[in-house]
Amino acid sequence: MSVSEMPVQRADFDQVMVPNYAPAAFIPVRGDGSRVWDQSGRELIDFAGGIAVTVLGHNHPALVHALTEQAKKIWHVSNVLTNEPALRLAKKLTSATFADKVFFANSGAEANEAAFKLARRYAHDKFGPEKCEIIAATNSFHGRTLFTVTVGGQPKYSDGFGPKLEGISHVPFNDLDALKAQISDKTCAVVLEPVQGESGILPADQAYLEGVRALCDQHNALLVFDEVQTGMGRSGHLYAYQHYGVTPDILSSAKSLGGGFPIGAILTTNEVAAHFGVGTHGSTYGGNPLGCAVAEAVFDVVSTPECLAGVAERHARFKAGLEAINAKYAVFDTVRGLGLLIGCPLVAAYQGRAKDFMNAAEAEGLMILQASPDVVRLAPSLVITNEEIDEGLARLERAVAKVVAG
Ligand SMILES: Cc1ncc(COP(=O)(O)O)c(C=O)c1O
Repeated sequence: MSVSEMPVQRADFDQVMVPNYAPAAFIPVRGDGSRVWDQSGRELIDFAGGIAVTVLGHNHPALVHALTEQAKKIWHVSNVLTNEPALRLAKKLTSATFADKVFFANSGAEANEAAFKLARRYAHDKFGPEKCEIIAATNSFHGRTLFTVTVGGQPKYSDGFGPKLEGISHVPFNDLDALKAQISDKTCAVVLEPVQGESGILPADQAYLEGVRALCDQHNALLVFDEVQTGMGRSGHLYAYQHYGVTPDILSSAKSLGGGFPIGAILTTNEVAAHFGVGTHGSTYGGNPLGCAVAEAVFDVVSTPECLAGVAERHARFKAGLEAINAKYAVFDTVRGLGLLIGCPLVAAYQGRAKDFMNAAEAEGLMILQASPDVVRLAPSLVITNEEIDEGLARLERAVAKVVAG
């Protein structure tokens, strides 16, 4: 028997995997569009998108084509050389955004790590070592490296790992006065998610982001937008900063960027990029030809007007369906979010029980997410069909009914 034919099951996880995850009882083995099938052949509808990653669903022909064609050409060259897919992707990303320059990484955390290092280096070179302070938002999430958990505004992710990086503070999200009180000429960067993702799908207020931009300009601080979750079409724009019309100095992207193939990136201006000179930063796999070829195919599909316009249509269909469920069962406080990043905060009686809704949905053949224990989150494919949306919502309604019935 070859290794790939060795039978494995969920119980093996507990035997051979580090216990930092608690995966569901089923193992998906195949996907197509917004449907996946598990080992037993059971079909589930996917409103989770691999946590806002599979932006074009599963098995999208353009992505399969890009990956298999590139796999026949060249897989890896290292950054001692450059490669065609990376250059093409960087040209497309810069022509479609504020950015002049791109740095490729492999994940959201790695992109943010690069963003934070670059912000500090820029300030260090231009204004001196005192200008090193980073201000981020309470409840924000920026990844799991030590720098990114420390910038992230949830101490539960950074506590217990030894000394934390210094010079990082947190202020409440959507509170301009709090930022005004904290920012100073020692601030090198303000870091925000335009929609706080992991902590509950909380969009920034328009006036807040405009005010943050002005404060950053006043104090020569860079504005860093973490668009790892909001990026690549999910907001109905290529990036959510375009929805707000507030332009950052550095933007991090990952998740949907590769549609399921691991890749991350930072986008920035010529002026800022100049401070990452040769040897200052790097990554063996960053800009890998396979990842960049897939991401280029994702970009080509997502950046079309039809795909971006379809996000608003689908948002409206989800919102109407979720509100109809809520009209019967009164479990959600509201339905919020941008585009196809949707959060349903639970009313007081169900707070802390988002996982119960997830489990009930799974039992009905639907994958959804939570964003904190208090918010049900949906992050489906941008090309999910009306039929898949309607069938998924019907399953969600049955799941909600079961939770409500106890
Ligand atoms: C806003 C945001 N930033 C960063 C990350 C980390 O990305 P990754 O898990 O790819 O390192 C996430 C992941 O959920 C995220 O939502």
